[in-house]
Order: sequence, then C-alpha cells, then structure tokens
Amino acid sequence: MFRLLSIALAVFGALASVSGFTYNRLDKDNAALLMVDHQSGLFQLVHDIEPIQFRNNVFALSALGNIMNLTTVLSTSAQTGLNGPLPLQILNDHPNATLVMRPGQVDAWDNEDFQNAVYATNKTQLILAGITTDVCVAFLALSLAEAGFDVFVVRDASGTFDQVTAELAYDRMRQSPNIQVLSLFAVAFELLRDWRTPPGAPYWTEWFAQYFTEIDMLNRAHNYAANITSF
Ligand SMILES: *[C@@H]1O[C@H](CO)[C@@H](O)[C@H](O)[C@H]1NC(C)=O
Ligand SMILES: *[C@@H]1O[C@H](CO)[C@@H](O)[C@H](O)[C@H]1NC(C)=O
Ligand SMILES: *[C@@H]1O[C@H](CO)[C@@H](O)[C@H](O)[C@H]1NC(C)=O
Ligand SMILES: *[C@@H]1O[C@H](CO)[C@@H](O)[C@H](O)[C@H]1NC(C)=O
Repeated sequence: MFRLLSIALAVFGALASVSGFTYNRLDKDNAALLMVDHQSGLFQLVHDIEPIQFRNNVFALSALGNIMNLTTVLSTSAQTGLNGPLPLQILNDHPNATLVMRPGQVDAWDNEDFQNAVYATNKTQLILAGITTDVCVAFLALSLAEAGFDVFVVRDASGTFDQVTAELAYDRMRQSPNIQVLSLFAVAFELLRDWRTPPGAPYWTEWFAQYFTEIDMLNRAHNYAANITSF
C-alpha cells in the first residue's frame, strides 16, 4: 500500500514537473497600464459592480499605476459627446501618459495612435481596465493578445451592464491563453511581489489604507493596540 502510494506520488511529481504550465505573473518593470473609456458618461452604464465600489476601484488602479511608476496609456471614445471626459483625478495621476481620444474606433487597437503608444511603452505585459467590459475592454484585450501581448484584465476596475454580460465577456477573453483576468488586489501584490523590496512596506501603507477600508480599520486597531500614536 505504502509502496503503491510512493509510486503514485513519484509519478504525480514527475507529471507536475513537466506540466508545461508557466505561471505568467506581473513584473512591474515589464508592465504598462492601459485605462480605456473610464469616462464620466460611461460610468452610468456600469451595474455589475456597485457605483461606490467601482469608482473606488478605478481611482485605486489609477493611483496604483502612479505609485508603481507604470507607463500609462489612456484612451477615450467620443469624449465631447455623451461619453464625457475622463475624471480629472485619473489625468492628474498620469501627467506623462499618452491620451488617445478616439474619433470613432470602438476597439482602441484600430486606432493607429493608440497602437503606437502601446508599442512605445516597450512592455510586453499590459494591465487593462475599462468600460464596458464586453466591448471596449474585450475587443482590445483580444486584439492585444493576437498581437502577442500578455494581457491582465482587472476584473473589478472594469464594468458593464450586469453580471451576465460581464461573464460572457470574460468567457470570451479567456479563450486566449494570453489573457488573464484578475482582481485589483492581486494586481497590486503581483507588482509589489515582496514587501521587503525597496521602496518597502511603509511606501504601500497609504495606498492600501485609502482604497481598502478593511485594511485601514485593521491598521487603526493594530496601531491602537500597539500604542502607536496615529490611529
Ligand atoms: C517610483 O519612483 C519614485 C521616484 O523616482 C521612487 O521614489 C519610488 O521608489 C518608485 N516606486 C517604485 C515602486 O519603484
Ligand atoms: C513625468 O516625466 C518627468 C520628466 O521625464 C519626470 O520628471 C516625472 O517624474 C514624471 N512623472 C511621473 C508621474 O511619472
Ligand atoms: C525595450 O525593452 C528591452 C527589454 O527590456 C530593452 O532591452 C530595450 O533597450 C528597450 N528599448 C527601448 C527603446 O527602451
Ligand atoms: C503609550 O504611549 C504614551 C504616549 O506616547 C506613553 O506615555 C505610554 O507610556 C505608552 N504606554 C505603553 C503601555 O507603552
């Protein structure tokens, strides 16, 4: 019995080592941020995430790109019409970003300026979020995957009409092995990788506390218990 188990474990071990699976994780030195159509008018269409949570997540992603020093490409569609402008906060977080105002292209990849801006980042990993998930995010993610990029779609900073529409869009995107769907929290930790790496833990505290209420309250309780003066 024991012998059989050992053989089984050995075989399993051998199989695992030749699985062919590669954990493709974010590397802050090889990643750029693409925020597409987070426009004030389009915000009104998002109902698969509560508005307060969604606004929080979009601003959190924007701020994360800033503190991670990611090269950023922003895009809007018909921003002088119903879709409206990007919130100023996003523009202020990314003073050096290229902003491509698409005159008509639904898929940003159909816009030459946008393509040039993405290639100019010289990164192969693209963190992508936008409105709506099923149109502007999905079309772009599929085009980027086809062009050979590794795409990391931020689930909770992208929005659309309802859960069904969102899940259909993610099912479609996941047909490409080059597209991964993950949470904002996961994006932050994959970029951060190790708390001890400079600039170090205290650098991240403010961002986590500002955008993750539970972490903020945990910090306060801990600081109080540890008799640290700021709580
Ligand atoms: C971002 O750049 C600033 C200024 O150069 C630097 O202090 C900080 O450590 C950088 N952040 C990361 C995550 O590398
Ligand atoms: C923008 O670019 C300038 C000039 O290269 C640089 O000094 C500044 O740190 C950059 N700002 C951000 C937020 O990346
Ligand atoms: C682009 O990235 C590669 C790999 O990181 C690097 O070797 C090369 O110098 C970069 N090119 C430019 C123009 O920054
Ligand atoms: C807590 O902090 C206060 C003010 O810094 C100090 O006077 C007090 O001795 C501290 N209490 C403990 C148990 O360390």
